[in-house]
Amino acid sequence: MVTQSAGFIDRAVPAGTNLREEINRMKKEKNAVILAHYYQTGDIQDIADFVGDSLALAQQAAKTTADIIVFCGVHFMGETAKVLCPDKKVLVPDLNAGCSLADSCPAPAFESFIKQHPGHVVISYVNTSAAVKALTDVVVTSTNARQIVESFPPETKIIFGPDRNLGNYINSVTGRKMVLWDGACHVHEQFSLEKILALKAQYPDAEVITHPECKQPVVEISDFVGSTAALLKYTVKSAKSQFIVATESGVIHEMRKQSPDKTFIPAPPADSTCACNECNFMRLNTMEKLYNCLKYELPKIFVDADVQEKALKPIKKMLEISERLGM
Ligand code: 13P
Ligand code: SF4
Repeated sequence: MVTQSAGFIDRAVPAGTNLREEINRMKKEKNAVILAHYYQTGDIQDIADFVGDSLALAQQAAKTTADIIVFCGVHFMGETAKVLCPDKKVLVPDLNAGCSLADSCPAPAFESFIKQHPGHVVISYVNTSAAVKALTDVVVTSTNARQIVESFPPETKIIFGPDRNLGNYINSVTGRKMVLWDGACHVHEQFSLEKILALKAQYPDAEVITHPECKQPVVEISDFVGSTAALLKYTVKSAKSQFIVATESGVIHEMRKQSPDKTFIPAPPADSTCACNECNFMRLNTMEKLYNCLKYELPKIFVDADVQEKALKPIKKMLEISERLGM
């Protein structure tokens, strides 16, 4: 019997299988849609029906007519899709694809934190479990966080979780004094300011473009700060032809596709013995696991009915505000 106990389907793909052809065939046959985050490997991005950042992927999940959503991303993204589409089958090729940022904010501890700050609006980054979203007033992604925070009157008391770097960045650009949960992403915190400055000296014409999950010193020396999709858009529009990219290096795949004549240099992590600018969780998904996932329609994402109902409200609120803002 095939089960999802390992977090993925541990079956060998039959010898001679053309993975691309088979995945495309099963996708049509089963009316499935493949959504992939920019941090997935290039082969997965290339076979996906839609590639995007956290916001765009949630928007796609909310409007798909497919019966099955295969989410090539991490667990919280699959959960968000399941909350939005409780009647659909939502699959993630490897359920072990977690997120250090989401893990830095357990729901019971976040609930106590909220209780310690009565009278605050709770804004949570999408990189959280459905249980944390269920405690939240409005969800944000890095694309819309600033605008959603600014949609509240300046005197509003706000709790922002779980990313302290994104929270600090929004506080600095809006002048707000949001109370921050002390969490972070191990990939974005790894970038080395010294190594980025050394690269800048080597490529004086290059622009440093940075995700707001990075630490403040890296953000401060950057020419542009934005979400994954905003960074991609910026590289297309900019008159510059060289970019030092301080986010997960998977997005460079699409940057190169959209601007083949430009040069993209992945920002190096402090620890040069590892590929820390690759998210080890995102990279757990492979073409083989995607093939098995579609074939066996496993592993599935489950969300408790009570959590689903409570988490839906702040996610829908985010989608409504984003639509109103034309995002
Ligand atoms: P965005 O997709 O919003 O840029 O967030 C990046 C991220 O950390 C996803 O895990
Ligand atoms: Fe989580 Fe960071 Fe990986 Fe994004 S890059 S999924 S925030 S650990």
